[in-house]
Amino acid sequence: MNASPERIDHLLSRLGYCSRSEVRDLLRAGRVAVDAVPLRHARAKVLPSLVTLDGAPLDHPQPLYILYHKPLGKVCAHDDARGIYADFPERWRLRRPCFASVGRLDKETSGLLLLTDDGDWLHRLIAPRFAVPRRYRVQLQAPLQGHEAAQLASGTLLLEGEKHPCRPAELAVLGDREVLLTLREGRYHEVRRIFAALGNVVMALHRESYGDLTLAGLEPGAWRELTRAERPEEGP
Ligand code: URA
Repeated sequence: MNASPERIDHLLSRLGYCSRSEVRDLLRAGRVAVDAVPLRHARAKVLPSLVTLDGAPLDHPQPLYILYHKPLGKVCAHDDARGIYADFPERWRLRRPCFASVGRLDKETSGLLLLTDDGDWLHRLIAPRFAVPRRYRVQLQAPLQGHEAAQLASGTLLLEGEKHPCRPAELAVLGDREVLLTLREGRYHEVRRIFAALGNVVMALHRESYGDLTLAGLEPGAWRELTRAERPEEGP
């Protein structure tokens, strides 16, 4: 995980500090150092954790693994100044690979959203073959009719405009208009479309968990880094 030596111009540009050509200016000004010794050459290979810029260690030279409580009313688009990315350090938007959410939640959905710049991890979380469970708390407009749980479990429910039925999903009934729905795939507006196909309307939607991760202790709009135990295992 980038713990091996890396060219300083590559390192600073992928972390969003500046372009590769601008690195030369930083080096000429003596602002970049390893063990307090200024670096001079853009091609120098360095261990990311040892580098300082203006005396400060680099901001997360390793991949980012973030658990975020998405509030209602924010979009997941990169290009919306009022969207979720405004809740994170500005430089992270310039990182390459891109710092992005693991799937998306609608503007009017709240809850658990993961963000990362580790493409392999993102893939393992969203690829259908890994079938990672996502649990949603759903408030419905009309009372349940009684057939919903069996229909969802059967794996036969077809959403409008789709050729393949939804994967089997679990429904836990909390009240006549409130359920917990656990899905093992992610499709566009999936929960809202599932209940539309079942003849109901979603009034409020909140994602409570993704895999083993929950929002415990995180207020809307707040985020935290995953702990070492929660992050994917580091390679050799
Ligand atoms: N399903 C939806 O309909 N919306 C979401 O935001 C997530 C899942």
